[in-house]
Amino acid sequence: MTRDAVKFTGTIPEYYDKGLGPNIFTYYADDIARRVATTGATQILEIAAGTGIVTRMLRDAIAPDAHLTATDLNQAMLDIAAGKFNNGEAVNFQTADAMDLPFDDNMFDALVCQFGVMFFPDKLRCYQEALRVLRPDGCYIFNVWSPWSENPFAQIAHETIAGFFTQNPPTFYDVPFSYHDIRGITGTLHEAGFKEVSAEQLPHIAELDDIPHFAEALVYGNPIVAEIDERGGNPDEIVSAVEAAIVSNFGEAKSMPLEAILFTAGG
Ligand SMILES: C[S@@+](CC[C@H](N)C(=O)[O-])C[C@H]1O[C@@H](n2cnc3c(N)ncnc32)[C@H](O)[C@@H]1O
Repeated sequence: MTRDAVKFTGTIPEYYDKGLGPNIFTYYADDIARRVATTGATQILEIAAGTGIVTRMLRDAIAPDAHLTATDLNQAMLDIAAGKFNNGEAVNFQTADAMDLPFDDNMFDALVCQFGVMFFPDKLRCYQEALRVLRPDGCYIFNVWSPWSENPFAQIAHETIAGFFTQNPPTFYDVPFSYHDIRGITGTLHEAGFKEVSAEQLPHIAELDDIPHFAEALVYGNPIVAEIDERGGNPDEIVSAVEAAIVSNFGEAKSMPLEAILFTAGG
């Protein structure tokens, strides 16, 4: 993974939130927020919170007196997240690297991370950090994407974009869809010290109500746009091709399959 794959900066967060959010993230955000709320946790830390898609649902789902801290590596993502809350709503926003959490030991009774772990370069280290800041009876709930075969939109976006480059095509779409080996992930969680680990595959059919904005965000709403720029590509031309490919694959049904894997790990 290149360092650029984690640069969700500049105009990326806005495209991400508006174009990718409703099409691929909100369903799983609702799922994970409900699961965290069900634990009854009152000191909650969110890692890689991004534009606050989970954060917003979580704040609504947990008890009013529960404390929620939402963190991300990129302040630009958190700026959008913070805009989803009114003054007086109890959420602390803070930049934080998931592999070096700026919190004391045993501070939280639940940790949540939606579609972030794939971007952390050192998986063992991020799980050790999660366990360190969790109380002994706390739990870590996170999800990752299943492979391209279960999330065909990502392969379509990758291949359409790659088709514009005769050599060295952008590789961003490998990163979020290449960390899904349940046995391997479970093994790393055990190695980090988590004792109880469970995993559940969550297939879903997503409704597509705005394909143009979805296609736009598949190019402008993640760090692949920087890879396109570096290679001298024309992002607008590529958006048109991605939109055509999405319409040709999913336009008739206006829906597409997705799948995530949800992990729950307890110390
Ligand atoms: C696909 S987004 C997921 C955001 C959000 N959880 C959601 O569901 O929309 C991945 C996020 O991981 C963040 N990220 C990448 N590397 C990180 C790190 N080392 N520590 C914390 N956050 C990181 C990025 O800034 C980005 O916001």
